[in-house]
Amino acid sequence: MASMAAITTTVLLFFIMILYSSSTINATTTTTQQRFKEAPKFYNSPNCPAIQQSDKCSDDAVHVAMTLDATYLRGSMAAILSVLQHSSCPENILFHFVTAASSSTSFLNTTLSSSFPYLKFQIYPFHDAAVAGLISTSIRSALDCPLNYARNYLANLLPSCVRRIVYLDSDLVLVDDISKLAATPLPNDAVLAAPEYCNANFSAYFTPSFWSNPSLSLTFASRRPCYFNTGVMVIDLERWRAGDYTTKIEEWMELQKRMRIYELGSLPPFLLVFAGNIGPVDHRWNQHGLGGDNFRGLCRDLHPGPVSLLHWSGKGKPWARLDANRPCPLDALWTPYDLLQTPFALEA
Ligand SMILES: *[C@@H]1O[C@H](CO)[C@@H](O)[C@H](O)[C@H]1NC(C)=O
Ligand SMILES: *[C@@H]1O[C@H](CO)[C@@H](O)[C@H](O)[C@H]1NC(C)=O
Repeated sequence: MASMAAITTTVLLFFIMILYSSSTINATTTTTQQRFKEAPKFYNSPNCPAIQQSDKCSDDAVHVAMTLDATYLRGSMAAILSVLQHSSCPENILFHFVTAASSSTSFLNTTLSSSFPYLKFQIYPFHDAAVAGLISTSIRSALDCPLNYARNYLANLLPSCVRRIVYLDSDLVLVDDISKLAATPLPNDAVLAAPEYCNANFSAYFTPSFWSNPSLSLTFASRRPCYFNTGVMVIDLERWRAGDYTTKIEEWMELQKRMRIYELGSLPPFLLVFAGNIGPVDHRWNQHGLGGDNFRGLCRDLHPGPVSLLHWSGKGKPWARLDANRPCPLDALWTPYDLLQTPFALEA
């Protein structure tokens, strides 16, 4: 009986694979067909603070915000797994997922619950109409997706009792305990903390029309602005709300629609508002750029120094390169967190 079942399954899978490969299924359909394995349950170590099940706001919890959509789902699943696996108090992590209101929230909800039956999470639909009118086209079209701007709106989307959040992109994995990152001090009333790169050419993030207009370039007059990547941030949501930073970012986006002051998508408004006034985070928490060169798609190496978080920012994504059989060497570090259920894995 068992072998009959196995044969039947194999035959079925064979046909499913033919169906997959035979036709003109578009990318969206294919991604919604993805099936994911169930992750193991992760347990708190004995010294973790106890959190009430009903307390959705506990300051003892680590609150993590991420966006969730069908295109990057495989990346998000890997990121979630990596966070849990390296945490000493995984049951004290509360995830806040922002999805496009137009997307299939119930599909994302079901997918998450079946792979992570013990995950504590909330889904927040983001009405992209709010931001669609503010987006001007950037040099990389993937950056124009409204959900990419959701990080500007976390303070409004999340319950007001959530005071501090770790925001994470979907194209990264942690290899260290997120509670260390979440505990980053925010001195001098800093609203957010992120690794800073003061050797990067900051001028290059803005256009000559920005720098040649004194009323604009004076924005940075009283600070020493350095580049930071908005894919990994610790944000004090109380200070954000008090300073209404959502509006400050939107004001720069409004200006960008009228005169081009930068080229990339959601990053430059963050630099305009915060660069030079952020809390420091060790570079180990954002080993970025592993996606490779934006124009030629070349592989990148790690930056020198220790690593707590690997970030495939840039054009290339490890799952896409693995599927195309053209992985970069460092993509092997992402693979252990991949939860995608392949037809071959199902057979095993
Ligand atoms: C997700 O599913 C759970 C039940 O499994 C339900 O209680 C919750 O409302 C759903 N959330 C969304 C946003 O659909
Ligand atoms: C920094 O970038 C600007 C604008 O792209 C360029 O004009 C300038 O030469 C660069 N500076 C250095 C030191 O590379």
